[in-house]
Amino acid sequence: MIRSAVRGIGSALPRRVMKNVEFESLVDTTDEWIVQRTGIRQRHIASDDETTASLGEAAARKALDDAGLTSADIDLIVLATSTPNNTFPATAVEIQDRLGMTHGFAFDMQAVCSGFVYAVNTADLHIRAGQAKRVLVIGSETFSRILDWEDRTTCVLFGDGAGAVVMEGVEGEGSLADRGVIASSLRSDGAQKDKLFVDGGPSTTGTVGHLRMQGREVFKHAVGMITDVIEDVFGRAGITAEDIGWFVPHQANKRIIDASAKKLGIAEEKVIITVDLHGNTSAASVPLALAHAVDEGKIKRGDLVLLEAMGGGFTWGAVLLRW
Ligand code: ACO
Repeated sequence: MIRSAVRGIGSALPRRVMKNVEFESLVDTTDEWIVQRTGIRQRHIASDDETTASLGEAAARKALDDAGLTSADIDLIVLATSTPNNTFPATAVEIQDRLGMTHGFAFDMQAVCSGFVYAVNTADLHIRAGQAKRVLVIGSETFSRILDWEDRTTCVLFGDGAGAVVMEGVEGEGSLADRGVIASSLRSDGAQKDKLFVDGGPSTTGTVGHLRMQGREVFKHAVGMITDVIEDVFGRAGITAEDIGWFVPHQANKRIIDASAKKLGIAEEKVIITVDLHGNTSAASVPLALAHAVDEGKIKRGDLVLLEAMGGGFTWGAVLLRW
């Protein structure tokens, strides 16, 4: 049986670090409020020369190096983003070009903060269907470009960055001891689309627009949605929370992460937290957290890793994989 395993990982962050205290002169907020309500202490903000494509390219190059591969070995690029360089073509094809890759195919995937989880699932399906042997899965965002910098309820929450993995088909024995994706579960509910959205677009206003969020409403739904989809994955894989080696959740708010882990019964020391360093980087958040945990020597080959995300749409999903 073919499984889709992670062979390499990389990440890239904009040069500029913006601490909470800098917001105190921009909007009516405090470092204390931001830390207490969200767990965020700083985020990286892209400069003019840093884009979703350039950050995605940098993360992809590191993932390829880590895998000991070049772009010649890649058949498909799936880029999860809601902040593409242009409305079209897909930023994935720009990254394909930047990597000097003229073969294979590339496309963008738009599921807001759940984008990376959706993209890993998509890569897994292409690999298992035999349509690609190796896939670059990238989450890259420049949310700073769609923030309303006068809205204190949103501008303090987000940051920019990118993370990438190289996934490849490996032959396994069909048991949980094998590496690669074991189970996935994706959901969306468009009835909730007004709770978190961008108030512009090519087919409506003809503008890029700004991010708008009913934060309290999102918070209210988040823990239930996250735990539902994870329990579905546990059921499909035939495991319990105790079997998990590492929980790598979407990094939007530490209170949501803590409440989800507690409800699921996942021990605190197994939860990867990077929201303090990066803020909410949307589709880049899970691969950035993964890369951070690998760099710190936490996640190692053979560990059972649970990825989870939820975001605008609403969209939400989880992937269980053996690292
Ligand atoms: N500084 C100071 N006060 C603030 C700030 C700020 N930056 N932002 C809001 N407030 C005020 C509000 O105006 C409100 O004041 P009021 O009581 O006088 O009306 C008060 O703080 C409390 O506001 P709440 O919205 O109730 O605060 P809450 O504890 O819910 O925290 C937050 C807000 C952080 C946005 C939280 O609701 C949250 O994290 N929501 C979920 C966000 C999320 O998970 N998004 C995931 C998907 S992201 C994606 O898909 C792109």
